Amino acid sequence: MFFTAGAFLTILPALAAGLPHPPSFITIPLGQRPRVQHVSGFADIAAFQANIARTAVKVERNLAIYEKNTGSSLAGHHSLRKRTQGSDPLIDYADNYWYGNITVGTPPVTFTVDFDTGSSDLFLPGPGCGELCGSFTVYYPNASSTSKLLGQSVGLIYGDQSSIIGTTYSDTVSIGGYTAKNQTIIAAQQYSEAFEAPTRASDGLMGMAFGALGQSTHSPLFQTLVAQGAVPEPVFAFKLAHSGSELRIGGVNSALYKGAFTYTNVTEPAYWQITVDGVSANGTQVLSNVSAIVDSGTSTISGDPASVEKLYAAVGGVSIGNGMYAYPCDSTPNLTFQIGGKSIAIAPEWINGGFYTDGENGEALCLGQISGSDSTGTLWVLGDVFMRNVYTVFDVGNTRIGFADLA
Ligand SMILES: *[C@@H]1O[C@H](CO)[C@@H](O)[C@H](O)[C@H]1NC(C)=O
Ligand SMILES: *[C@@H]1O[C@H](CO)[C@@H](O)[C@H](O)[C@H]1NC(C)=O
Ligand SMILES: *[C@@H]1O[C@H](CO)[C@@H](O)[C@H](O)[C@H]1NC(C)=O
Ligand SMILES: *[C@@H]1O[C@H](CO)[C@@H](O)[C@H](O)[C@H]1NC(C)=O
Ligand SMILES: *[C@@H]1O[C@H](CO)[C@@H](O)[C@H](O)[C@H]1NC(C)=O
Ligand SMILES: *[C@@H]1O[C@H](CO)[C@@H](O)[C@H](O)[C@H]1NC(C)=O
Ligand SMILES: *[C@@H]1O[C@H](CO)[C@@H](O)[C@H](O)[C@H]1NC(C)=O
Repeated sequence: MFFTAGAFLTILPALAAGLPHPPSFITIPLGQRPRVQHVSGFADIAAFQANIARTAVKVERNLAIYEKNTGSSLAGHHSLRKRTQGSDPLIDYADNYWYGNITVGTPPVTFTVDFDTGSSDLFLPGPGCGELCGSFTVYYPNASSTSKLLGQSVGLIYGDQSSIIGTTYSDTVSIGGYTAKNQTIIAAQQYSEAFEAPTRASDGLMGMAFGALGQSTHSPLFQTLVAQGAVPEPVFAFKLAHSGSELRIGGVNSALYKGAFTYTNVTEPAYWQITVDGVSANGTQVLSNVSAIVDSGTSTISGDPASVEKLYAAVGGVSIGNGMYAYPCDSTPNLTFQIGGKSIAIAPEWINGGFYTDGENGEALCLGQISGSDSTGTLWVLGDVFMRNVYTVFDVGNTRIGFADLA
């Protein structure tokens, strides 16, 4: 598991008085890295593989929703195998998330949700959610004076193929002190086993991508806040770190970055999808013009197998099967992503997924946290392993992403 049981969210009160919208900080301290590794320092290959599979299922699922919503495919992904329309594998959401509190309803009830820039719906356990919802806080519409039944049945099909039905409601939802009215919520009637209470710290999930990926609504929570003029600025920003991780809603936190932001336009407002101009290994550019999504709900980086192969080939990496690679532990590659004219280097500690085994010549090999997956077309997924190296602002108002050096 990637989280300590005690991880929690703090909303610090605004320090500045007199502002119409006081700045609001959401701090998400996490005790553990998203590194798939045993305590011994050995890579946990099974967990890493499960991770790759989850990411693949999630991205495919969202591409299918996008097609359903827009009638067209995301560029370059026509060859994807189609999944059941509207399928929603909650099993994806088992363990890769950064989470914190929101409140829902009137009077407000607090829920812990995963903040996911790689999806767009807001899910909570709803009435009738059985034993698997165990200790989760359940959303009871009948206990909220602002709840309204929208009544759209949303078919959810888990990765393990068990299926359930969720129902849509709208209600008042607050995050970091900002309030959205009439926000669409999916109240799930059942969670799959992988979603089971003991394995998770959060009750539900809050999607932070664009409406085109929304299965229940075209206005994800943050977009609703923007549309209703509830946030000072139409942006949110993430710092992901060992400690002091923070999601800031409605602005950026100038204490957490230095220098100016380098912006890059979102190429397709569904995911937070951007163009990576180049990927370099030890100073040599290996890849160019890569399409990628920035996804807080994925722990690693994945890309199409051919490109990932090229990247590792440039730094003495070897395939260990199933899209995974290893490299000599004493020679961690220096990988940088060039985006909008900014170079973002991945710190060696995030490339290193732990000790794997001895190579042919007896040298120690380490698992690389960049993997190949052919189920997401040519789309790369930049998860925590990428996001931890940079302060990232998601600019909904200008449909762009900004990167700045961490302070
Ligand atoms: C988050 O919600 C839980 C459950 O209501 C609560 O125990 C915890 O104190 C909350 N954290 C913050 C910082 O409000
Ligand atoms: C709301 O519904 C649940 C069952 O879904 C029931 O247990 C509870 O008593 C109801 N609460 C109110 C305030 O009616
Ligand atoms: C929310 O819905 C209620 C009732 O349908 C409506 O009166 C109100 O204007 C809506 N508020 C917003 C901000 O959309
Ligand atoms: C980004 O988009 C904005 C608004 O559509 C446009 O004015 C700007 O030229 C674009 N920037 C680049 C580098 O394409
Ligand atoms: C990694 O590459 C970047 C850009 O090419 C460079 O600035 C940095 O010094 C390199 N780091 C190491 C440890 O070689
Ligand atoms: C980058 O790739 C896209 C398709 O993914 C293509 O439309 C575009 O022309 C390419 N740009 C360059 C500079 O090669
Ligand atoms: C790449 O650069 C890193 C950091 O400078 C170094 O440790 C590693 O040995 C280099 N790899 C190769 C294949 O030269």
